[in-house]
Amino acid sequence: MTTIAFIGDVHGCVLHALGALVALQRHRGIRLDAAIQVGDLGAYPTPDRLDGPSRRFAAENPAQADFFRLLDPSPQLSSAVSLALAQVPRVLFVSGNHEDFEWLTSLHQAEGANVVPVDPSGAFRHVACGHKTVIAGQRTAFLGRIESAGYMDLDTAEYANLLAAEPGSVDILVTHDGPHGMCQDWHGRAEGSVKLARLIEHLQPRLHVSGHYHHENGPRRYGRTLSYALAELVYPKTSRRRPERANPEQQVARGSIGLLDTETYAFEYVHDGWLAEVSGDHFDLGGFVSPAGNG
Ligand SMILES: [Fe+2]
Repeated sequence: MTTIAFIGDVHGCVLHALGALVALQRHRGIRLDAAIQVGDLGAYPTPDRLDGPSRRFAAENPAQADFFRLLDPSPQLSSAVSLALAQVPRVLFVSGNHEDFEWLTSLHQAEGANVVPVDPSGAFRHVACGHKTVIAGQRTAFLGRIESAGYMDLDTAEYANLLAAEPGSVDILVTHDGPHGMCQDWHGRAEGSVKLARLIEHLQPRLHVSGHYHHENGPRRYGRTLSYALAELVYPKTSRRRPERANPEQQVARGSIGLLDTETYAFEYVHDGWLAEVSGDHFDLGGFVSPAGNG
């Protein structure tokens, strides 16, 4: 069986993300062939570069600052990450709307590559918008960012390139935003990107996976395509608008991980109880990954 894991918005909780992959393999008895994260990894080079919302959330949810621990790891964390990466694939991610785009662009320019590691261990690798590559045998296209009037847009040139690609030439489309009409906002207005809806209808990938709306949503069918949106990996401790999502223990959320069997194209939202084992303000990745911690 060939499998790809998809991870919802991480918002800095990168150690939870690695722990969730380790737990997924352990509990399912599988070896993942690839791991793809749908954006809002929370990729900022330093805390002072965080945008306003990310800064406020990180102040109340310490795990959202774990990305900075990964960038400048203690020897203990470094060996914990190495142990994890001996077991699970490195994580490819697209841009969300909460990343340092200038920094990510500079990494691509420095390496002259469409896929670049963002941390010293190379655990997380950013994929440039519009990039197409074969992952676990699947022709996969990536398009990050969101379409939101007056705030942000998809990469215009790369969007146009994908829209000009042959229908059926992509098996898996990975985006941060989702197609227009996928859900409604607080005022009952349709959310999602009109451009992405058009792209999915044109390209007709077998699978589309997205994030951004922080809740499980799907499958939705668009012709030949089945489309899924993932929950946020670790919901914040408190939620004023959605108290049912309050997550004081900082556990990995049900529906934040998707698992694709590339032979059958069966896609499953992981809802297993063990997701909650990956938790805490200071998740102990080393203890979780090491054989001694494998209880
Ligand atoms: Fe997000």
